[in-house]
Amino acid sequence: MTSYRRWTLRTENTVYTVRLSPDGPWAELDAWGPHGAEDGPSALDWSRRTHFVTPADAAPAEYLPHGLRPFGGADLVASRPGAERGVWWDFEDARTEEGTLRLAFHDAVLGLRAVLCYATVPGTDVILRWTELTCTGDEELRLERLDSAAVTVPLTGPARLTCLTGQWSQEFQLTQLDLPRGTFTMGSLQGVPGHAYAPWLAVQDGQADAAYGVALEWSGNWHITAEAVPGGTVRVRAGRVPHEGAVVLSPGQTLITPRLACAFSPDGLDGLSRVWHRHERHLAGERLHRPRKVLYNSWEATGFDVDAEGQLELARAAAGIGAELFVVDDGWFTGRADDTGGLGDWYPDPAAFPAGFGRFVDEVRSLGLDFGLWVEPEAVSPGSRLHAEHPDWVYRIDNRPGRLVRNQLLLDLGRPDVQDFVTGTLDRLLTEYDVDYLKWDMNRPPTERGRPGAGPADRLDLDAQHVTGYLRVLDHLRTAHPDVTIEGCAGGGARVEHATVARTDVVWPSDNTAPLDRLSIQYGFLHAHAPHVMSSWVTDAPGIFDPRPRSLAFRFVNAMCGVLGVGADLRAWTPGQRAEAARWISRYKEVRDVIHHGEVHLLGTPDDPTFGVQYDHPASGRTVVAALGTGRLDGAPLVPGRPSRLRLRALDPGARYHDAASGTTYGGAHLLHYGLPFTWSAGHDADLVVLTRR
Ligand code: DGJ
Repeated sequence: MTSYRRWTLRTENTVYTVRLSPDGPWAELDAWGPHGAEDGPSALDWSRRTHFVTPADAAPAEYLPHGLRPFGGADLVASRPGAERGVWWDFEDARTEEGTLRLAFHDAVLGLRAVLCYATVPGTDVILRWTELTCTGDEELRLERLDSAAVTVPLTGPARLTCLTGQWSQEFQLTQLDLPRGTFTMGSLQGVPGHAYAPWLAVQDGQADAAYGVALEWSGNWHITAEAVPGGTVRVRAGRVPHEGAVVLSPGQTLITPRLACAFSPDGLDGLSRVWHRHERHLAGERLHRPRKVLYNSWEATGFDVDAEGQLELARAAAGIGAELFVVDDGWFTGRADDTGGLGDWYPDPAAFPAGFGRFVDEVRSLGLDFGLWVEPEAVSPGSRLHAEHPDWVYRIDNRPGRLVRNQLLLDLGRPDVQDFVTGTLDRLLTEYDVDYLKWDMNRPPTERGRPGAGPADRLDLDAQHVTGYLRVLDHLRTAHPDVTIEGCAGGGARVEHATVARTDVVWPSDNTAPLDRLSIQYGFLHAHAPHVMSSWVTDAPGIFDPRPRSLAFRFVNAMCGVLGVGADLRAWTPGQRAEAARWISRYKEVRDVIHHGEVHLLGTPDDPTFGVQYDHPASGRTVVAALGTGRLDGAPLVPGRPSRLRLRALDPGARYHDAASGTTYGGAHLLHYGLPFTWSAGHDADLVVLTRR
């Protein structure tokens, strides 16, 4: 019998039930799982016997401050300046509306109200959680920790964590670790989510398939911390990390934390990835249905050596193989002969475009291509005119040397005048020239992060201000230039999280475009992000981490797993290579709606002889399978060999599926039980199979 108040949030397939604790003034998790999981005594319940700790430390608390939860790790640390740290609040009230819940707690002595907020995301199995903190007293508050939320994952065996780790050029590596006891923390102090860890974590019960996941919607500093707690659960806390160690909250002021998306799937990491894909489709809104055009980007072909003639030669070759969009990357503006100059002075280089940039854009467009431009709006080169005119716009600490990273400095985008400059610059470029596509890059983290003359640094929430400025400019672009497609990029994949994904159309996962390296990057990426946001290029690049050569077909099938682009130096390609490229691009155009909008199943791992991605599009009755042979062959013709096989998933065992290319029809049960056969050879290492349900 329940003698306490409970609230249940229902998503498509899951429930998330919260109750007021019978043990103290906090909310705690009662149930999280499939529909019906809330029907019965809570699996998170504990014996109510504690030795040496308090009930608040033992409870599966949703959010507890330091003070009330003395030992188990607090989600909020608040104090008045110079006074004790600690919050001892009481429950105030609960408000519910369709799909939302708000639970308010108030500490009248300290003068702090905290509202725990919940909202379901329609059409998904995602619950959003965040916290609103208001200073209700006469004195300001100092918030040293201000997490968004904590979630307790009920486990019956040792916890297995999955995260996405890496470095520049090796982002999104799927990494797993067991956490029998102790704490695992990841995060970034780089002012962007960073290359080292994605703000995404999955927790699984060692003995069950179910997978729980969290993802933080924040483009700045962050942490996600998982702690295996003595009672046998794992408690995950997540939130932003203040730049100066604390945030000041003035009387009457309310701070809203970033949202933490919480997802559940009974079907393991693969099922969890589909929950995240659906969520990102929801984040895209109307723009989900904008076709992602086949891009050509000249960066890997020409580097900084950009001029009208060379670019037009590439554009003609790109149009010839069926590309639909031509993007001029870094190097098109004045002073940008290499990475030491030019950033901030966003005017086309007249020497490189002697007939005028507008004329150049028109010539590209006359080839039937859309036109795209690279920018790095937050960056400034020390020798630029912008820096000479506005040295105060750059992050800097008085009397301290500034450091260059990639020979450049970073603008303080938290300043309204810098935001206006960036908005004005982009408006000018997008109206003066016929631009359909903007690639927003960011290549250096803030190092000496201060704002001279703006008062004590510990009163400036610089990290949040930068994020606010960045999102404000992106929001402006979406409303003022709704037809311009936006690509998010940060020296590869250092700024991929839900706030960016919601405001861009595609993101660039990594600068590493080598085939097998890319495969493992995309494998990790697709666990957290949807194919319609995954920009991927076919290039000539050799592998940095895996130099085994792969065919052109492999490069195409690999890049077709998301939003296809080409970044190779087409000038050096033979007519045969161009013809093959044209065939792949034309096949891609036929199936891209299935790839971008279908349900994804990841078939195996890149360590298997054959790795595949299956996309099901029930509305059109089509299933597309991208199959990639990673290297091992079957020994034929020297020894008896059998083809490598990819077992498909989630098909109707009683239906029949036809592969028009080979003329073969398979029973659904056959494909589920035996799988599609692939006979790889040295020259044949990838395939794209399109099955139509009969
Ligand atoms: C880093 C990006 O990730 C690359 O794609 C390219 O745009 C370079 N910057 C240009 O400087």
